[in-house]
Amino acid sequence: MIELLAISGSLRAASTNSALLAALAANAPSDCRLAVYDGLGLLPIFNPDDEGERTPREAARLIGAVTSADGIIVSCPEYAHGVPGGLKNALDWLVSRDAAVGKPAMLVHASARSLYARAALAEIMQTMSFALCEETFEIALLGKKPAEVETILGEDANRQAMRDAVQGFVDFIRGR
Ligand SMILES: Cc1cc2nc3c(=O)[nH]c(=O)nc-3n(C[C@H](O)[C@H](O)[C@H](O)COP(=O)(O)O)c2cc1C
Repeated sequence: MIELLAISGSLRAASTNSALLAALAANAPSDCRLAVYDGLGLLPIFNPDDEGERTPREAARLIGAVTSADGIIVSCPEYAHGVPGGLKNALDWLVSRDAAVGKPAMLVHASARSLYARAALAEIMQTMSFALCEETFEIALLGKKPAEVETILGEDANRQAMRDAVQGFVDFIRGR
């Protein structure tokens, strides 16, 4: 069984990125379990003085979840041509540890835009030594209301595409 951890860069209750990750979890192939990380908004702002024995509880939980996962899937909006602070903060807690080193990761996108954030996130995660999968996955949900999002993510073709995307990532992990 491959265990995946999904992290959404949006804290919005009606987040399209979080909805995409929930749908990926619901449509994951049977040989894989995808858990969605729910602590992004609980993480204190990263401070190198608070590493080691002083590591805050939620940061330790994140580090443990990333360490024990076989791979990470990230879906993130773009704010002002950048990576939202909440996600960057979570990644910062992982920088000076082994958690990210060689950890397979895949980026998925809930917007056809956000090209600056995509490039920045890839650069950040490669710098952290994540093993970034070249394949990405995109469903255009930008601006859609929750009911429309649910309809789109429930379409047979999209469910199959999501299953294929997660399977591709699982194959990438198994092939390493
Ligand atoms: C403060 C703010 C700034 C944004 N800046 C950009 C931007 O620079 N480029 C872009 O493509 N979208 C931008 N957006 C749109 C979001 O990326 C888009 O609404 C995204 O789908 C939201 O994701 P969510 O539904 O998961 O919260 C911005 C949205 C907000 C709230």
